[in-house]
Amino acid sequence: MRLDKFLCACRVGTRSEVKKYIKQKLVTVNGQTALKPEDKVDETADIICFRGKQLQYEAYRYYLLYKPAGCVTAVTDATHKTVMDLFPDDIRGGLSPVGRLDRDTEGLLIVTNDGEFTHHILSPSHHIPKTYLAELDYALPEDAVARFKEGLDIGDDELTLPAELELIEPYIHENGYVRHRALVTIHEGRYHQVKRMFHAVGCKVLYLKRLSIGNLTLCGLDPGDFRRLTEQEIAALKEL
Ligand code: URA
Repeated sequence: MRLDKFLCACRVGTRSEVKKYIKQKLVTVNGQTALKPEDKVDETADIICFRGKQLQYEAYRYYLLYKPAGCVTAVTDATHKTVMDLFPDDIRGGLSPVGRLDRDTEGLLIVTNDGEFTHHILSPSHHIPKTYLAELDYALPEDAVARFKEGLDIGDDELTLPAELELIEPYIHENGYVRHRALVTIHEGRYHQVKRMFHAVGCKVLYLKRLSIGNLTLCGLDPGDFRRLTEQEIAALKEL
């Protein structure tokens, strides 16, 4: 790969910053001062140092992002802020969100540059559980738990896969109206799936937050925060 690409992947700096560092003779390849950003390096064999410190190449990177409401789940967008705008320039390169949350939905989103991992998480055959907190305009009907479990007709060719629904205490929203609440765990990821499932039982989703994917939770993060996934978390997700 190109030296400047390697340096960016190691988070030495942005493409223009690393070019500057090469010009300033701060980068060596196998002990020789590197001269050109376009020089080819072997990331698995060459010893590449920045300011005398050896760099470790990471082919794949995995992040957990607490997506705030208001940004779109896309890499670029002509009008709206995207989830990728929440990452600094030196991290963002090559990353994409895994699946999507609606613009008004907040919560847990995985972001990676590992296409195979993305495919694994999204594949309908893996049934990876995703849990959401939903706030609703009306109380759920009495048979809602059973209907979510049986599978719902949400207008697609197939019923939804069995989902777990748990009712939680309603509360009074700051607008003075009662908000009914439920936790729902689904094992697939169709377009607007959760909103369409509640619609199928007569309720409108007024607020939606994804709390977990598999073993991952938002624990300790605020909206807009992100962190690296640990090796254990990545391995556990790959096993699901
Ligand atoms: N289901 C929805 O309806 N919206 C989301 O953002 C995620 C799941």
